[in-house]
Amino acid sequence: MEILLAILAAYLLGSVPFAMISAKLFGLADPRTYGSGNPGATNVLRSGNKKAALFTLIGDALKGWLAVFLAQQAELSGMTVGFVALAVFFGHLFPIFLKFKGGKGVATAAGALLALDPILGLMVLGTWLLVAYVSRYSSLAALIAAGTAPLYSALMHGTNGQFAVVGIIAMALIIKHWQNLQRLMAGQESKIGSKKMG
Ligand code: G3P
Repeated sequence: MEILLAILAAYLLGSVPFAMISAKLFGLADPRTYGSGNPGATNVLRSGNKKAALFTLIGDALKGWLAVFLAQQAELSGMTVGFVALAVFFGHLFPIFLKFKGGKGVATAAGALLALDPILGLMVLGTWLLVAYVSRYSSLAALIAAGTAPLYSALMHGTNGQFAVVGIIAMALIIKHWQNLQRLMAGQESKIGSKKMG
């Protein structure tokens, strides 16, 4: 019962769409109506409002971090904490508050990973920052960070439960970035901060 409640609470927390809250707070259009149509920080940045994008990024990352942190504080088993990380992440991808059509999960995954395993979280975040800095593509940074995260986890701890959680998150992230991958390959992806798509 305790486990199911923790998973449900994490899913509901993950469902809170900070891109939409941010749009309301800053008086912007619904992020699903412009750019990539993704309710996430990268797309909110295409509105030109950096504060709104930062608010989205912090909110979406914090909810991931908070869900896992609270599960750890409640001294739930390692397996339950892993399920909580998955629940908050999938809550963001398939939010009940947006008819199950959510974002791509990068910020929420980063927050959850930082709480789950701070060293791994920092390695993945460092990978994202490095690729984003060099390429200026948020999606490419997410794809490479997602691709390397299970590798880092396996190298540090072997193929344990954490590896399974990180692997599932990574696979879902890559699937969610499928259109980005196609745009990247066609040379039509927009760079960070660019208002245009393509
Ligand atoms: O965090 C999402 C990012 O990786 C891609 O966003 O709006 O370019 O599809 P977007």
